[in-house]
Amino acid sequence: MHFQWYPGHMTKARRMMQENIKLIDLIIELVDARIPLSSRNPDIDDLGRGKARLILLNKADLAEERLNDMWVEYFRSKGYSAVKVNSKKGGGIKSIQSVIQEACREKMERDRRRGILNRPVRAMVVGIPNVGKSTFINALAGKACAKTGNKPGVTKGKQWIRLNKNVELLDTPGILWPKFEDQEVGLKLAFIGSIKDEILQTEELAAELIRYLNRSYPGVLEEKYAVSEKEDPYQTLREIAENRHCLVRGSELDTEKASGILLDDFRGGRLGRITLEVPTL
Ligand code: G4P
Repeated sequence: MHFQWYPGHMTKARRMMQENIKLIDLIIELVDARIPLSSRNPDIDDLGRGKARLILLNKADLAEERLNDMWVEYFRSKGYSAVKVNSKKGGGIKSIQSVIQEACREKMERDRRRGILNRPVRAMVVGIPNVGKSTFINALAGKACAKTGNKPGVTKGKQWIRLNKNVELLDTPGILWPKFEDQEVGLKLAFIGSIKDEILQTEELAAELIRYLNRSYPGVLEEKYAVSEKEDPYQTLREIAENRHCLVRGSELDTEKASGILLDDFRGGRLGRITLEVPTL
């Protein structure tokens, strides 16, 4: 399977990110807990040089708990602060403020030594499309916090959300573009729905997912769809189509529809908690 993906507007997004990064102390980078490496763009390490770094394994509810913990360890061993969160349900969000504080401790101490007191830490959320940036910002900021900046009569500027007296968050997240020279990475991004389905053959993608699941999560497909086939993923798709009564023209098996069902079930966590990447610690 071969595909390339680099939307033109990402060039603009990168420029904006570069400008915003100058204003902040801390980069809060969201990654997808199911593919913590493939959902990163390594360029952020360059863009964020000299800034405090916090990696959030978002959608942790969809990934395997044991591997979430391993990934947290992995990122910490590389020098990042790291925690797992579920922005949708709010899991792990409460503790984030103290994690932010901790991630910026060095910077705050440096400020204090220089006699700069009470300057809030400024942070920005970044991540690839659909990783949950807006959901996270909403979960963290809630309704209670006041926006600062852009007050009437004040020169137009960025919108900062005051989380508490120590931390302010830029209200617009930075969009990172997924990056893959490696087709495996592209495939994983497609599995979680980060790359538009239209540029890929749905059935081909579903077949690849079946191959992966048979290898790494044996029994999952059998349990969910009562399928028995293990060797030929296209035969598995036909069995899913049969069991789910996906038919075209009354009697032909609609494997395209079955592929959609499988991908939707995976993306929605209905196949259970599944992680597609394992860290090497
Ligand atoms: P973005 O700003 O980075 O582009 O992502 P956004 O917040 O729009 O979130 C993308 C999708 O991911 C949304 O689903 C959102 O609900 C879901 N999401 C975000 N965080 C989590 C999480 O921790 N766990 C789970 N399971 N899902 C999460 P959607 O289908 O677009 O919307 P909706 O059906 O949830 O309303």
